[in-house]
This record gives sequence, C-alpha cells and structure tokens, in this order.
Amino acid sequence: MSDLTREALNIEDLRRMARRRLTKALFEFCDRGSEDEIAMRDNRTALDRIKLLPRVLTDVSGRDPGITLFGKKHALPLLIGPTGIAGWVWYRAEIALARAAADAGIPFILASTSSTAMETVLAEGGGTQWYQLYVWRDADATLVTVARARDAGFEALVLTVDSPTYNNREFDIRNGANFPPRVTLRSAIDGLSHPRWLFGTLARYALAEGRLPRFPNIHFPPAAAGAKNYTAGQGAGFLSRNDMLDWDFLRRLRDLWPRPLIVKGILHPDDAVKAAACGADGIIVSNHAGNVLDAAALPIEMLPHIAAAAGTRLKIIVDSGFRRGSDVLKGLALGADAVAIGRATLYGVGAAGEPGARRAIAIFDAEIRRTMGNLGVCDIASLGRNNIVLPGQMPSFGAPAGDFSVSGANETRPLTVIQR
Ligand SMILES: Cc1cc2nc3c(=O)[nH]c(=O)nc-3n(C[C@H](O)[C@H](O)[C@H](O)COP(=O)(O)O)c2cc1C
Repeated sequence: MSDLTREALNIEDLRRMARRRLTKALFEFCDRGSEDEIAMRDNRTALDRIKLLPRVLTDVSGRDPGITLFGKKHALPLLIGPTGIAGWVWYRAEIALARAAADAGIPFILASTSSTAMETVLAEGGGTQWYQLYVWRDADATLVTVARARDAGFEALVLTVDSPTYNNREFDIRNGANFPPRVTLRSAIDGLSHPRWLFGTLARYALAEGRLPRFPNIHFPPAAAGAKNYTAGQGAGFLSRNDMLDWDFLRRLRDLWPRPLIVKGILHPDDAVKAAACGADGIIVSNHAGNVLDAAALPIEMLPHIAAAAGTRLKIIVDSGFRRGSDVLKGLALGADAVAIGRATLYGVGAAGEPGARRAIAIFDAEIRRTMGNLGVCDIASLGRNNIVLPGQMPSFGAPAGDFSVSGANETRPLTVIQR
C-alpha cells in the first residue's frame, strides 16, 4: 500500500502517478489540450507570472480559508469541477470524487457525461453536489435531465456554454481515443501494458455491471428509440452538441431550475453581465483548461475585467490551470469567489482512486493555508488587488517619504524603499 503523503508532495507527483497507471490514450485524454496546446500552456504561464506581495508582522495564527457560496459555508475556496471522463480512469470515480469533496467540505460538480447515475453519485457521494449540463442536439430531451437533476436534489445547475462544437483534439485522434472506444491492436497493447488500470477499472465494470462505462445521465429524445446507448446516439447525431443555443435558452433554464444557476465558460465581461440579466446566480470564468478553443483568452487575465463588470450580481468562480495553493490565492485576489480544479483531482483519482482525490485536495488545503500565512492574510475576504503584482505593473505606493538616496564614493544612487 503506497503512502500518498510521502509519494505525492504536489499535484505534479499525482500527475506522474496517474501517467504510470493509465493507458497512454486515456492519460493524454485527461492531460493534453486541443490543437497546439497554446491555451493550456498560457494558462499556466499567466498564473506563474502573477506575483503575490506579502505583508509581514501581521498575526496570521488564526487564518481561515473558508468561504460562503450561495449561502452555504465551505471549508476551502475550492470546488471540484466536472470532468466527464472520470469514470474511465477509476471504477465509479464520480463517487470517489464526491466523497473526497464532501470530506474536505467543498462542492463537487458532476459532469453530464459521467458514467454513474446521478442519483447514485448523490446518495453515495454525499456532500454538496452540483450538476453540470451539456445541451445536445435535442434541447428538449436535455431538459428531461434538468428535471431529473432537480428532483434528485442537486444544489446547483452548471450550464457549460464554451463548446458549441466539439473540440479539435489531435492527440486523441492520433491515439485512437475516440468515444465510444474501439479495440484495435494498438489499444489492446496499450491496455495490456497498464494492467492496474485494465483489471482495476475496466475489468471491474465488466464484472460488476456486465459492460463498459456508459452515459446514464444523458437522455435521448423519443425519436431516438433504439439509440439508448452512446454509440447509437452518436451515430444518429443525437449526441452532437447543440450549436443553436442562445440567451433565451438560459432564460428557459432559469424558469425550470429553482436553485442556483451557474454559467460555465464565460470569458467576456459583457457575457457575464448578460448571464446576470438572464437570471444566472454565478459564472465560471474558464477556457475549459485549454481543451476547446486553443486561441482562447486566458481566464486569469479576463477575471478582473469580468469581476469589475459583474459587480456583486454574480458569484464568480475561475478555473483553468490551477495547480497550487498560491494559484488559488491569485485567482481570489483578482476577483474570484472560488476556484475550480479539473485535472488536479482527475490526476489524483486516476493515480489512486478516492485516496488520490483526497490527497489532491489535501495538497491544495495545506498550500492555501501556508500561502495565506506567508502572505500575511487571515481570511479569504480580505484578499484583494493589494496582494498582487501583475506582470510589468508595479503597484502604486504613493511618494516615498523622506530622502532615501545613499551616497557612494563616486555616485549617488537611489535606494528603492517602499513605504505606505
Ligand atoms: C479530461 C477533462 C474532461 C473534462 N470534462 C468536462 C465536462 O464533461 N464538462 C465540463 O463542463 N467541463 C469539462 N472539463 C473542463 C473542466 O471542468 C475545467 O473547466 C477544467 O478542467 C479546469 O482546468 P484544469 O484542468 O487546469 O484545472 C474537462 C476537463 C478535462 C481536463
């Protein structure tokens, strides 16, 4: 039995462990981005270039990273975002992720394309769960799912709007990682070279459920009789994303959904304002981790503009590229109310199931608390722009008081002293 606290000191360690356990095709599906992976890379670069500006000699012994979202308290400013593939990386990973989130006191968002029925995840996972919605070609059939999620008791609905067409993932095409998966000589060799995944996950589905993972939360329209599985649904075009959605659909959802409604995949401040006008309670500022539009703007860069435009009308969650507690604090300081993670917990569950997911959250937890301490911050609400130095933008501190020049033998050079 591996000791994750020693083996996985950070999210990158969990990523390496997941890489060893999963097939190449599956790992790259989880890990890589679309086209040239520019958005994915730049999400990280942008976060790395933002600096935190510590304040010292403030008593930070009582720091508390808790937040309140939609009237409910959470232990960390963190959520587990939806990743539809989770059920393929671990047997019933959705339940593992939900349990890990519940134990840590943070929300879990169940993806539309998850492999376990939403009612089962809700009952066995516990905690705060939100449901993520993709809208397929037949929008009315999709609304059946909304009614089901409402009746099941999901606490919020998250409508993903950033991918009206499927993304161009060349790595997946090369790896043959299309859905539904086809068994080829290459995929068979890939599977046999990863026996822990093959027997621990795939064979478990076959033994326990008599089949490979499916998509039990997707509703097919009556016209799709006989298309009750993904293969037939896709073949008949029922699983095409709906590229006709507009703001009216969001208003329609608002009428149907009685609890918090969140729009995921906003990057433009005007769209945030429109979402609020249509009755949304929150948004997720996201470029889908660089998985959709490779030339997309970066969430962390758009965040302050969106926060300024939205004011207090919306709760703002940001995601895409967050791997460290310090990243989370940067997002909060730039205007987010919380940060969602996708790959970090997906690596965790792919590496070691529920303990791996727990480990991923525990790493963020420790890093957030440690960074708060070193930043001189006791609570999340007090984080703001004065905790941040943006690339190339030295904050203004007003005129330095007094004469801070020092005279050398041959020169007088200014001494940079910052005083508030
Ligand atoms: C493998 C994978 C699958 C994903 N599946 C979904 C999904 O089914 N629905 C959705 O709204 N977002 C999906 N996302 C996007 C995540 O919810 C989230 O926006 C993103 O992963 C955050 O960036 P991060 O992975 O760098 O933390 C997926 C992301 C990845 C990496």
